[in-house]
Amino acid sequence: MSSNADIYHEMIVEYSRHPSNFGKIENPDVTYHDSNPLCGDSIDIFMNINDNKVSDIKFHGRGCAICMACSSVMTEIVKGKTIDDVKKIQKDDILGELGLQNLQAVRIKCALLSLKVLKYAIYTYLANHLNDTNADALKQEASALY
Ligand code: FES
Repeated sequence: MSSNADIYHEMIVEYSRHPSNFGKIENPDVTYHDSNPLCGDSIDIFMNINDNKVSDIKFHGRGCAICMACSSVMTEIVKGKTIDDVKKIQKDDILGELGLQNLQAVRIKCALLSLKVLKYAIYTYLANHLNDTNADALKQEASALY
């Protein structure tokens, strides 16, 4: 019988080979790009937002298996959610899906790169489209991820 660790490992390998929502959106409502300063790997996120909900999300770029798996999980969690619900997503929501809660510090940047990009993307959308003055808290939250 497989242990939880084996199952999570298989999930990470599978997501890295066949990432979910991988690609680009033409003329997205918002896009954001950032990179992992340790390795230079980078992620772009593209989102369309309708009726205050993320109607579509895709990510593109390159990263290690953990980065690709976490980016995939992040897009699966976000798709269809309201902006308010997306704002509430925390790092453990992503890490927990793949059993990565105790990840060593050096790999945490791999796991959280896409969440950081997501938070900045939502911040950018709120600041540009809705003139939301509370958006700055989201920017600070993204900066504090690592
Ligand atoms: Fe580059 Fe993990 S080694 S994102």
